[in-house]
Amino acid sequence: MIELKNASKKYQQGAREVHALRDVSLSIKKGEFLSVMGASGSGKSTFLNLIGGLDQPSSGEIFIDGIPLHGISDDELTLIRRRRVGFIFQFFNLLPILTAAENVSLPLLLEGTPYSEIKPKAIKLLEQVGLSERTEHRPEQLSGGEMQRVAISRALISNPAVLLADEPTGNLDSHTSEEIFMLLKNLHEQGQTIVMVTHDPRAAAYGSRIVTLKDGMVSEDISLGGRA
Ligand SMILES: Nc1ncnc2c1ncn2[C@@H]1O[C@H](COP(=O)(O)OP(=O)(O)OP(=O)(O)O)[C@@H](O)[C@H]1O
Ligand SMILES: [Mg+2]
Repeated sequence: MIELKNASKKYQQGAREVHALRDVSLSIKKGEFLSVMGASGSGKSTFLNLIGGLDQPSSGEIFIDGIPLHGISDDELTLIRRRRVGFIFQFFNLLPILTAAENVSLPLLLEGTPYSEIKPKAIKLLEQVGLSERTEHRPEQLSGGEMQRVAISRALISNPAVLLADEPTGNLDSHTSEEIFMLLKNLHEQGQTIVMVTHDPRAAAYGSRIVTLKDGMVSEDISLGGRA
């Protein structure tokens, strides 16, 4: 369902050219939980941003559900990203003036859907992550783990083909991190395709497959068995 063919990404930094991703070919199947590991600077975030349509490859091809993410306009890319991809980040990126339920609804509010129509689904997603008592709280009234659970609900509101997570627990203590990983594992067991970047081998082990990047190339690709 996600296919990279010889995908490369180069950045120009002054006179220097940084080759962040080199000729990566990989397919990610529907329902897979892929963990992406590698040293700092190995290209993990670049990889995630390319498959999420946040950025385009310098060369090569990327497809999501058979739809090309390369060689298309920024507007087309934005639409694909909104409809097919859910992102969660290390710093949650919630809007401080909105309640939890409003934050979860935001991607669909931006599409023009009325809040009254979205709210029941937002509440349901918040219940699913154990936040039924927090739907009217603003981010500052929530703990870090709760904020990340709101962000996960927000990422799921548009039924994305894939959930992408870049160091989702980089800002959380180990106990709270484990709760977030269990939540992701649970979503995977319900069939959600997930790609998660982490530098923590224990976190990576929650996945069904671990791909390791080194200098922008895949250096290792291990299937962990269980559900693929
Ligand atoms: N916008 C940019 N402009 C120039 N160089 C960039 C840009 N983004 C990333 N790079 C470079 O590309 C390489 C890969 O970066 P990337 O952010 O993908 O690494 P990473 O594996 O996510 O690292 P970390 O674990 O530190 O987050 C690095 O050398 C980085 O400096
Ligand atoms: Mg990174």
